[in-house]
Amino acid sequence: MAFVRNAWYLGAYAREIVAGQLFPRTLLGDAVVFYRDDAGKIVALADLCPHRFASLHRGQLSGNDVECAYHGLRFGPSGECTFNPHGSGKIPATARVRTYPVEVKYDRVWIWMGDSELMDRSKLPKLDHFESPAMRTLDGLMKINAHYVLALDNLMDLSHTQFIHKEFLASDYLRGTLDVQDEGEGVLVSVWIPNGSAPPNFKLVMKNPDEPVDHWIETRWFSPATVTIDFGTTAVGAPRSEGIFSIGVHIVTPETESSSHYFYANSRSFALDDPTVDEQRRTFQERAFREQDGPIIENCFQNMGTGDLFSLQPVLLSSDAGAIRVRRRIESMVADEARAFAGTGVHA
Ligand code: FES
Ligand SMILES: [Fe+2]
Repeated sequence: MAFVRNAWYLGAYAREIVAGQLFPRTLLGDAVVFYRDDAGKIVALADLCPHRFASLHRGQLSGNDVECAYHGLRFGPSGECTFNPHGSGKIPATARVRTYPVEVKYDRVWIWMGDSELMDRSKLPKLDHFESPAMRTLDGLMKINAHYVLALDNLMDLSHTQFIHKEFLASDYLRGTLDVQDEGEGVLVSVWIPNGSAPPNFKLVMKNPDEPVDHWIETRWFSPATVTIDFGTTAVGAPRSEGIFSIGVHIVTPETESSSHYFYANSRSFALDDPTVDEQRRTFQERAFREQDGPIIENCFQNMGTGDLFSLQPVLLSSDAGAIRVRRRIESMVADEARAFAGTGVHA
């Protein structure tokens, strides 16, 4: 299953790109090197010297430029060769590397992996709760050896929380009302579970953990690879605004056809300054994402050998509705891009 290219993907946390250092990361199959210029602005170049194809990240920074480790050509932030130490020093016209548009938003580095001319800042994700003083966020990054769309499948069908994550998230989810719909350009899966038991993660901070609650989960997919999960409880019959909630943000950037960078974050509306709750949430992220989701997704991908689920004629369940809708949307965006690239359709 091909990737949507004309889109913003999360390339790195801004903190990963340290002044004076070259930071390589493969994204959508492209080797990319990030660095900060003299003013601290983040630059992304193809991580490949056009001379003998050494990886540029093996070189070093020289002011605003990257100097290739092998024969010393230097390339600047716009990709042009700025220095040739050989012969007359003339710079060959072909001595340039691809650059990628980058934007820093929410302390995260977003990279446009397609045609720079189609770059559209209005399509950057809107995740303003990251900046809210009323939320406490803990985040992290893990690698998953699977096609990224399997991670999206996992997120769009949270019925798996009742099985693989039951120690943290078991509730009366399976008797809740599931609703799947388009929401703007995204997809929303919502589950409403009235008068049921709270998940263990929430019981930890409830005064009366055994009291029934109204519980909601709203999972939103935003193209191409961001999923937010609004997960909360309130007293039975009380408005949601009186309850407590957390917002999970899961952003999965393909590394290759068979591996992904999985950026996760959890922001909560309660116990903001409580280190014990931080610890509980960290444990949840470590166990649920790294030890439960990651390995089962990798297991499925190994057995499937492809990201193309439908080619394997899988059994489909009612809980798959959100994941299928997202897959169809991605497939149609990929097809639009392929048509535009072939010059047979409207330019995407
Ligand atoms: S490979 Fe980079 S200068 Fe030769
Ligand atoms: Fe999960």
